[in-house]
Amino acid sequence: MQPVSIAIFVSNDEIPSNGDALYPFKQNSDLYWLTGIVQEDTMLVLFPDHPDPKYREVLILVRPNELKEKWDGKRLRAEEAKTISGISTVIWLDAHDALLQAWIHLAENIYLDSNENDRKSSLLQTREYRFIEETKKRYPLHRYLRAATVLKELRAVKTAEEVTVIRQAIDITAKTFLRVMKNMRPGMFEFEVEAEIQHSFLSQRATGPAYGSILASGENACTLHYVSNNQECKDGDLILMDFGAEYGGYNADLTRTIPVNGKFSKRQKQVYDACLHLHNYAKSLLKPGITILDYHVQVGREADQVFQKIGLLSKSDVKNSTPEQPAYWKYLYHGISHHLGIDVHDLGPRAEPLRAGMVLTVEPGIYIQEEKMGVRIENNIWLTKNGNVDLMKDIPITAEEIEAYMKRSKA
Ligand code: GLY
Ligand code: MN
Ligand code: MN
Repeated sequence: MQPVSIAIFVSNDEIPSNGDALYPFKQNSDLYWLTGIVQEDTMLVLFPDHPDPKYREVLILVRPNELKEKWDGKRLRAEEAKTISGISTVIWLDAHDALLQAWIHLAENIYLDSNENDRKSSLLQTREYRFIEETKKRYPLHRYLRAATVLKELRAVKTAEEVTVIRQAIDITAKTFLRVMKNMRPGMFEFEVEAEIQHSFLSQRATGPAYGSILASGENACTLHYVSNNQECKDGDLILMDFGAEYGGYNADLTRTIPVNGKFSKRQKQVYDACLHLHNYAKSLLKPGITILDYHVQVGREADQVFQKIGLLSKSDVKNSTPEQPAYWKYLYHGISHHLGIDVHDLGPRAEPLRAGMVLTVEPGIYIQEEKMGVRIENNIWLTKNGNVDLMKDIPITAEEIEAYMKRSKA
């Protein structure tokens, strides 16, 4: 932060659905990263140059109300919040305004947060944007700065502690995948697989799924965000399963594609092996120094070659393609990697070189509508100084490992 600056963070809204119902509360990711507090109506104020040291870091919480707690459960007491956040000054929301006004008058600059995720597309005016409007109206002569640009830098490189929590989310997800392979049978419905995943996550103390689990059998696998999960898993089909646990606020993001009956057909194995080749190739490139943009170009070139070998593209398809419309795009129409952390599609640079400490996915796919099948293989990778560590290296991934596990567990 620049000298004599105050930064103010607000929590997410509690979002209404219908009637008096609310969607489950999801904390603002930056506020969570800074405080660890998952409670509605929380605020954080940072003012490193405040003359009074006790106001350099202040957590603002809703005052616990006994009657409300009888309906909605306990809210944090000041001592509990201090333990969670490490912030020693806690004040109540109903008493914060006069204090905040005085602090703002001492500051030259005001940092406010907004959602600068490069995949964001919603136009809904969330609380942080309303707060920006209100604050600018009330304090028109201050200089305003973007907290998101700072948080983007901080959150992109994970600490060892963060990687430990991601590993826990991955461990829960890995055990869940083994259970799903064991119980997979032709005739099962996709939602039954989803139910197994949900049961496994919650019974291992995950918060829940990191995102809507994708259980896409047969041609459903060609729909990238297929979450209807309402079809029968048929003998002879593959099922693409993209799911991950959220644990301690951090996410795992796994995709495996397995044969519903436990055995890949010859063609399925050919396509699967091609996808695994691309996965391993991509992983070998994902190291500090490369940009996601360059990485995609290189993986794309390999995909053009691989897709010719399995009869999807011809030489002339590739020759006649352009960088804007590469040939492989017909069968692989999404990015290969994204940052992973508190958000499944986490903050992090695309155009600048990747750095040690970043965690990303590797997830090539091959989607063949005309053959009613799709394959994706996704692992989570931690970049180290000299290369990377595959945080999912112990999860069965080759066609042989998957077939052997499914056979053994059904014997
Ligand atoms: N499950 C979302 C993704 O893989 O990006
Ligand atoms: Mn995924
Ligand atoms: Mn992913």
